[in-house]
Amino acid sequence: MTKKTLPVSFPKRFLWGVSTSAHQVEGNTHNQWTVWELENAKSLAKQAEYKLTYLPAWDEIKDQATDPANYISGRADEHYDLYERDFDVVKAMGLNSFRFSIEWSRIEPQEGSWDAAEVQHYREYLQALKKRDIEPVITLMHWTLPTWFAKKGGFEKRANVKYFVRFAEKIFEELGSELRLVVTLNEPEVYVAEGWIEGAWPPAKQSKLMAVRVYMNLAYAHRQIYRLAHRTNRRLKIGLSKNIAQHTRGDDAASTKIMVWLQQYVADYFFLGRVRRQLDWLGINYYFSNTYRGFKRVEGGPVPQSDVGWDMQPSDIQFVLERLWRKYQKPLIVTENGVADQHDKYRKWWIAQTISALYKAMQNGVKLDGYIHWSLLDNFEWAFGHWPRFGLLEVDYQTMKRRPRESAKWFAKLVKELRS
Ligand code: BGC
Repeated sequence: MTKKTLPVSFPKRFLWGVSTSAHQVEGNTHNQWTVWELENAKSLAKQAEYKLTYLPAWDEIKDQATDPANYISGRADEHYDLYERDFDVVKAMGLNSFRFSIEWSRIEPQEGSWDAAEVQHYREYLQALKKRDIEPVITLMHWTLPTWFAKKGGFEKRANVKYFVRFAEKIFEELGSELRLVVTLNEPEVYVAEGWIEGAWPPAKQSKLMAVRVYMNLAYAHRQIYRLAHRTNRRLKIGLSKNIAQHTRGDDAASTKIMVWLQQYVADYFFLGRVRRQLDWLGINYYFSNTYRGFKRVEGGPVPQSDVGWDMQPSDIQFVLERLWRKYQKPLIVTENGVADQHDKYRKWWIAQTISALYKAMQNGVKLDGYIHWSLLDNFEWAFGHWPRFGLLEVDYQTMKRRPRESAKWFAKLVKELRS
């Protein structure tokens, strides 16, 4: 794929970037996830022996997946100390944007007490991006919470939302002049489903009632932060990152149509409907599609699977973007999209398919302002631990050395061409 093979060029101001989150890359964080990891590492390693054997790469990842150390975020990528070097790579790749989350537990380690040195750290972090002409996209909540907030019941209680809003206020006051694009929440639906329905992530509960309550409180938090930002700093453009799967029909049965409609409503529109008037833009995180026949999801289609067992249908992102644009008419940014692919067998194909699909969506009228790939680095993949490899750069977790994968070199070349 080259500029010549694409029918027209991307807009000059289009954001080409990479995405990360604090807990997954920084190292040495202390939040409700770190506590949970320490409590659950052994049982996760045990469970892997029967829960993960279905994975295409099981034989290769088995040793890591059955080792409790895999489930501890620990040093992660040491990006907290190595960020300048990582930004040099982002710059050298010709990218012009970078998404990351600000770790609330660093800024407010105890209730009401702000850590000035940590605020300063993120100030310098933002300046390091600015110096390189890289536009920051910040996330306020990428699933991790200070332990004091989690102990109070976190987002289960509406009365607790004010603490999160106060954190946002602090960030806007201290760092607002360096910011424009803000993601309030990362994938609220995944956070709720894993934490309160599957019970697979902290706080590992199973209560549909509580899940709905948390979901509503998150929507409320988003609306509050939107209003706060609009009152205090007109520069800020408030969005959120929503995981969107494409739901496709495996046949024409009436029950299949109902199921697809239901999935879209429950997974996407239920939440977005509650914040649609408080969105300057909408972030889309796309990783996979789900196909239904009747009320059943069709497992394992003819398409290849990534290392974490997700069906790979990258070009479906076109339909996701078109659907969300039609429904909400908000500028869209792809805030995450990528593939767990340790041998870098599919990543280049994935990105090429994706970029053509973005292009088609734009030709069909979608206002798309950027593509931010997940991820810059291999990183700590939540309850899967360290073995999934989503990075454009491979990380050696012993030495912390980064090595660009072939797909990264190719992507960098393409972006430079598309931006020229
Ligand atoms: C999350 C990331 C995660 C990625 C790959 C997204 O759901 O926002 O934190 O690493 O998917 O699983």
